[in-house]
Amino acid sequence: MSIRLAWLAVLACCVAGVAVASAEIDVIAVRKAGMDLQASTLGAVSLAVKAGAEVKSFAGAGSAFAVWSKQIPGLFPPGTDKGEDTKALPAIWSDSAGFAKQAAALGAAADKLTAAAKAADKAAFAAAFKEVGEACGACHDTYRAK
Ligand code: HEC
Repeated sequence: MSIRLAWLAVLACCVAGVAVASAEIDVIAVRKAGMDLQASTLGAVSLAVKAGAEVKSFAGAGSAFAVWSKQIPGLFPPGTDKGEDTKALPAIWSDSAGFAKQAAALGAAADKLTAAAKAADKAAFAAAFKEVGEACGACHDTYRAK
């Protein structure tokens, strides 16, 4: 096999590998489902706050929001601005630093939610819940179509 042919074989292999990888994960479906789960969880948090219920069991929700927030920017790779009725706006890619900042704001609010839950501090939990909701809304205002 000539060197050129060997390189072609390597290249073909890589291209096939990438195609397989992107076929396995539908990134638009994943981010939408993640956002929906997040909204449902936040709904449950809201009910607990309104009812004055115990908050300790929501520590896991807070830490999951934090982990999720770090993944958000990576769930919007270039080329996923179209398809599956995505509401992602072009600003995500033209202002990726701003988008990452909004994701980090959610992470910071989520950390407060976790800390308040662990401390069983209902007042701090209610304040952090409000901050989390504002972080969702702030990102949607700029980066998600209505
Ligand atoms: C860093 C930005 C950002 C943050 C923070 C964020 N979102 Fe989103 N969200 C988006 C974008 C962009 C979309 C549109 C995704 C798409 O359609 O591909 C979206 C979509 C959604 C959707 C619709 C999903 C669907 O099925 O179409 C829901 C519900 C949602 N977000 C809830 C939330 C909640 C609740 C929070 C906070 C706990 C939150 N989001 C935080 C950017 C964000």
